[in-house]
Amino acid sequence: MQRKIHFLANFVALILSLTLANAETHHHQFVVQTTPVKRLCRTRNIITVNGQFPGPTLEVRDGDALVIKVINAARYNVTIHWHGIRQMRTPWADGPEYVTQCPIQPGASYTYRFTIENQEGTLWWHAHSRWLRATVYGALIIHPKLGVPYPFPNPNTQIPILLGEWWDRDIISVQRQAIFTGAAPNVSDAYTINGQPGDLYRCSTKETAKFSVKSGETLLLRIINAALNQELFFTVANHMLTVVGNDAAYNRPFATRVVMIGPGQTTNVLLTADQPAGRYYMAARAYATAQNAAFDNTTTTAVLEYDSAPRPSTTGKQRPLLPALPRFNDTNTATAYTSQLRSLPSKNTKVPTQIDEKLFFTVGLGLVNCTPGPRCQGPNNTRFAASMNNVSFVLPRSTSLLQAYYQNIPGVFTTDFPPVPPVAFDYTGNVSRGLWQPQRGTKLYKLKYGSNVQIVLQDTAIVSTEDHPLHLHGYHFYVVGQGFGNFNPSRDTARFNLVDPPIRNTINVPVGGWTVIRFVADNPGVWLMHCHIDSHLRWGLAMSFLVENGPGKMQSVEAPPPDLPPC
Ligand code: C2O
Repeated sequence: MQRKIHFLANFVALILSLTLANAETHHHQFVVQTTPVKRLCRTRNIITVNGQFPGPTLEVRDGDALVIKVINAARYNVTIHWHGIRQMRTPWADGPEYVTQCPIQPGASYTYRFTIENQEGTLWWHAHSRWLRATVYGALIIHPKLGVPYPFPNPNTQIPILLGEWWDRDIISVQRQAIFTGAAPNVSDAYTINGQPGDLYRCSTKETAKFSVKSGETLLLRIINAALNQELFFTVANHMLTVVGNDAAYNRPFATRVVMIGPGQTTNVLLTADQPAGRYYMAARAYATAQNAAFDNTTTTAVLEYDSAPRPSTTGKQRPLLPALPRFNDTNTATAYTSQLRSLPSKNTKVPTQIDEKLFFTVGLGLVNCTPGPRCQGPNNTRFAASMNNVSFVLPRSTSLLQAYYQNIPGVFTTDFPPVPPVAFDYTGNVSRGLWQPQRGTKLYKLKYGSNVQIVLQDTAIVSTEDHPLHLHGYHFYVVGQGFGNFNPSRDTARFNLVDPPIRNTINVPVGGWTVIRFVADNPGVWLMHCHIDSHLRWGLAMSFLVENGPGKMQSVEAPPPDLPPC
C-alpha cells in the first residue's frame, strides 16, 4: 500500500514536471516604426510593427509565457493590447493607454510579460492608443497544450484571415479632423484581407491575398475582425463554413454560408475543399446598422485557389467566382448567425446562477450642443458623443487608472459609475431630446473579488440605434441572452441560456436590442469595457471596472513592473 502511494505520488510529480517543462517562454521584439506601404495606387507612410503589415503572427501554446519588448521608434505615443488574454493578476500588461499604463513615448520601450492560462484559440494584438490600431495589429494564435487535441478533426492547414480597414490618408489626421469638427470621421477607402484590398479595388489585383489548397483538404480559417469602425459579413464562394470557435473559446460546430464578425471578435471556421478544382473568392463587406450614417460600401476579396485548378488565362476572363453577400443592413442574417452560437460543453462551463451584482448599462450615441462653428459640425450644430449609462468616458492624462488605484493617487477617478441608468426611459423608442446629451466623467464601478456579475447591455435609439460590439478586458463572459427592443426582466430572464451559452470577450448588442452577459469577477485590476468601434470609443462609449483583490496570494494584482512607462 505504502509503495503504491509512493509510486502514485512520483507518477503525479512526473506528469506535473512534464507539463511544466512543456511550457515555453517566447521572447519577441516589436519595433513600432514608420513604414512606406503602397495600396490603392499610392505609397503612404503607416505605422507598423517590425515593418510588417499586418504585423507579426504570434504562435504559442496554452500555458506558455510571453515576453514582448515594445520599442517605440515612431513619432506617436503607443501601447499594445493583447486582445482577449485574461492577464490574470498582470493587468500591467493589458495595454489600453491611460487605463492600465501610460503610453510608451517615442524613443522609449516597455516589456509586456504575461502567461496564457487556460485559453486556446484565436486572439490578436493591436495598438490601444488613439487610432493606431488601424495599421498596428496582428494575430495571436494559441494552440492547445502539447498532446491535447482540438475538439474537431485536425485541419490540414491553418490560415489567419485578418480583416482590416484602409484609409487613403494618415489615420491620425483622420482622427484629428473628427475630434476637431465633432462630426463623424471619414469612412475608410477599402477593407482588406491580410493587408490587401483585393481585385475589386484600383491597383490591387497583383497583390491580392491568395491561399492555395489541395482538393479534399480541410482548412482552419482563423478570422479576425481588425477593422477600426466596421462590423463585417464574411463568406467564401460555394463553400460551407463550419464555425468551431469564437474569441478563443470553442463552440458547438454549426454550418453556415456567412459569418458576421464585429471589430475585436475572432471566428474559427473549418472549410473543406470539396468543390470542383478552381478559384474562389473569399469576400467581406459591411454590416452597417446605424440610420442615415455613411459607411464604406466596398468589398474586399482574397482568392482560394485549388492547386489543381486550371491556370488563369492571361486574357483575365476567368475571374474567380464571387460569392453573394448579405445586404449591408441585413439584420436577419446577422441574427440568424449569432443565435446559433452555443458553447461546447466542458468541465469548465460554470455559468453563475446566484447573481451578486445585477447591472443594467445603456450603450449608445449622444450629441453635445455647442456654439455653431468649425468645431460644431455634428448634426444640427452639435458634436457627437457616446456613453454608457449616460456617462461619456474620459481617460485621465496624468497617470493611468490602474496606477492611480494601486498607488492611491486621489482625484484621478471616482467609483460612482451608476449600476442602472440615472433615468429610466423607453430606450429603443422615441427618446426625448432632453436625454440626448451625456455627462463626461471618469467613473469606475467597483466589484468585490469573486462576485457573480450580470450586465444587461441595452442599445438606445439616441441619435440612432446601432449594433455595438462590446468588449470587456481581462475576462471572457457567458452570453446568456440577446433580443430586440427593451430588455424586459419578467419576460426575458426566463429564456436565458444557462446551459451552453456562448463564451466570448466581445459581443454585439443588437441594433435596437439588448445582450445579457455573466461572469465571475475573479481577476483583480482595472478593466476597460468599451465599444470596439474606435470612433464610438473615442466619443466615450466605455466604462471601467475596478475589481478588488481577493484574500489569497494568487488573488491580488502583482506589483507593477519597474519599466512601466511614466506619463
Ligand atoms: Cu481590442 Cu480595448 O480592445
